[in-house]
Amino acid sequence: MADEIPWERLFEEALRVRQRAHVPYSRFPVGAAVLYADGSVVAGCNVENATYGLTVCAERNAFAAGVAQGKEKPLAVAVVVDTPEPCPPCGMCRQVMAEFAGPDIPVRSRTLNGGEARYSLGELLPHAFTRAFL
Ligand code: THU
Repeated sequence: MADEIPWERLFEEALRVRQRAHVPYSRFPVGAAVLYADGSVVAGCNVENATYGLTVCAERNAFAAGVAQGKEKPLAVAVVVDTPEPCPPCGMCRQVMAEFAGPDIPVRSRTLNGGEARYSLGELLPHAFTRAFL
């Protein structure tokens, strides 16, 4: 399954949208791209705020854009950050991903210097809180 995922296309999109990140405070632009079952890719960048606390990460913005575009069934997530080591999604973003995707969805993170980390959402967020508990 993971072999059929067009990772290069996903990372291209993540890299492209990363250039649009609104990061005047951290200067830490992040790009994320989500592949959906219909073959489409929805991207998001981090958007910071002068209050700091209202900052929204790239991953959450990508998933929110997917909802707004009526996308269903995310299949894979790609993240691009310019760090020495690949950067995993933050805890808040992991929980938001768990709202829309199961534990097997692959999440990959790349740096600009060629590094890559591969995870599943289940590895990143074991024992997720989901609607199954409600
Ligand atoms: N950030 C993301 O966009 N995704 C992550 O997974 C980690 C952090 C953003 C939030 C903030 O704008 C900046 O990176 C520094 O934390």
